[in-house]
Amino acid sequence: MNIHSFSKFKHNNQKISMVTCYDYWSAEILNTSDVDCILVGDSLAVVMHGFDSTVHATTEMMELHVAAVARGAKDKFIIADMPFLSCSKGIEVAMDTVHRLMAAGANAVKIEGDTHQIDIIRHIVDAGVPVMGHLGLTPQSIHNLGGHKVQAKDEAKSAQLVESARALEEAGCFAVVLECIPTKLGSCVSLRLNIPTIGIGAGPHTDGQVLVLQDLLGTNPNFTPKFLRRYADSHGVIKNAVNRFHGDVVEQEYPSLAESYK
Ligand code: KIV
Repeated sequence: MNIHSFSKFKHNNQKISMVTCYDYWSAEILNTSDVDCILVGDSLAVVMHGFDSTVHATTEMMELHVAAVARGAKDKFIIADMPFLSCSKGIEVAMDTVHRLMAAGANAVKIEGDTHQIDIIRHIVDAGVPVMGHLGLTPQSIHNLGGHKVQAKDEAKSAQLVESARALEEAGCFAVVLECIPTKLGSCVSLRLNIPTIGIGAGPHTDGQVLVLQDLLGTNPNFTPKFLRRYADSHGVIKNAVNRFHGDVVEQEYPSLAESYK
């Protein structure tokens, strides 16, 4: 997959799959998988570092994780999130952040937010860097949104979101993530745009779907949003394996002589 594949997929009615990835070992696994592209999401602040929101992701964190993923997933198209406020501190900070993420191995950046980011998006695209937009529930604005809620539920807000999506396309975005919006709106935006939409909690009609890798693997049994489908019980698998190791050590069944050096 390269930057041109996104519009080809859309025009061939071929759905795009994207998963998040934050580290080398899972990147190596994803590199051998069929998934179309990888997002080094700022959700790593929550999933990998235990913070309560993505507001805590910094450029240093993003850069470190992008570099690890790029070393592991050499054949995949990698999109990196621009961290909280990096686009609101002026063009120099924004371009410095873009530079650091691309130098770390990203193929594109993702920017959360509405039309107030348009000028900066145009500038980044003009500089030769592909930009993915992100509308609907934008977790960097969690304090403004008042929590993780479905967005754009009324007509006015829906119309505004459609306009924002069109503005992102016009500014040069190659795709746009739609997070936690009604199914009908996910469908409507996808029909109105020439660039692909990639949904998370946006229904089945978007041009692609994205999930956080750990969520689809089921590492956290307490995280149960409506949109999430679990494809594995990693929490159970990991806990069971570690408990078996513990049991073998306590019972002196590990290591055996065959697992020891002469
Ligand atoms: O940071 C992230 O993981 C994301 C996805 C949920 C789209 O932005």
